[in-house]
Amino acid sequence: MRVTNGIKRLVHGVLPRAFVNLVWNLGSDARDVLLGRRKAGRPQPWRVWHNVGGGDFHATGRHFRDLFAEAVNFQPGFHVLDLGCGAGRLAFPLAESLDETGRYTGFDLSDRALGFARKHVTSRARIEFVRAQVESREYAASGQKASGYVFPAEDNSVDAALAISLFSHLLPEDAAHYLAETGRVLKPGGRVFLTGFLVEAEQKEGIGNPDHFLPMRPFADGVWAADPRHPERAIGFDRALFDQWVKAAGLVWAAPVVAGFWSRTGGAGDFQDAIVLEKPR
Ligand SMILES: C[S@@+](CC[C@H](N)C(=O)[O-])C[C@H]1O[C@@H](n2cnc3c(N)ncnc32)[C@H](O)[C@@H]1O
Repeated sequence: MRVTNGIKRLVHGVLPRAFVNLVWNLGSDARDVLLGRRKAGRPQPWRVWHNVGGGDFHATGRHFRDLFAEAVNFQPGFHVLDLGCGAGRLAFPLAESLDETGRYTGFDLSDRALGFARKHVTSRARIEFVRAQVESREYAASGQKASGYVFPAEDNSVDAALAISLFSHLLPEDAAHYLAETGRVLKPGGRVFLTGFLVEAEQKEGIGNPDHFLPMRPFADGVWAADPRHPERAIGFDRALFDQWVKAAGLVWAAPVVAGFWSRTGGAGDFQDAIVLEKPR
């Protein structure tokens, strides 16, 4: 782990971020082809073109769909809002779980990712993908500041929201605003399931340990980043700071955090922490 992290740090320290992303995604696509992971008959996005995370696209989507469904007491007639939906990793399995009374709205800043999802996701339910014209250095996107973005949903209209691996790429002011918007659009009693890097006392101890899967360094007060020069690459928030945003958003915790293995040297489970919040009735 120490050697791998050392090489990663060197590469990230020397080469431009966009170039590192390009090479990394190309390598991941090539590995998938060589290992026969791109199965015929199932549409699968290209990482290099569609901004997709690691792992098997459909299997990972089903895994998080199941965690989400359990966390929010999912019903087939729900209106679901998917924050930073990407190429539809969650939209594919959710489209199968929703019935004709259900509705799914996904938004993302990537036109290419949304194009893939629009082309391939089909369902009995009403499905829509919305382009968020917001800026992000990590995703080389331009537009308005994400801290002013209004989610594509009415007040109190969404039964359940999800955000898989989005808050780990949001600057603090954007993360606080996205929680506030979530609080606005959720129906009373509605829940959001999200993943990210939450720094509690346990994680803070040795947070920069090079043997950890994702060592982090201080970026701002209560905020940590894998690379403080490029905080949106992987960003984490102190629990106390996150709690302030949760409260300001009118949300409460609905379940204990399930800690991911990002802040450990080994272990099973998911990489990021899993968080479930609720808008009280
Ligand atoms: C790691 S990917 C995860 C995508 C998807 N949730 C999934 O699980 O496959 C993060 C996604 O967040 C999107 N994103 C980043 N910043 C955003 C923002 N401020 N608003 C909306 N989408 C954003 C990116 O375009 C990217 O598709």
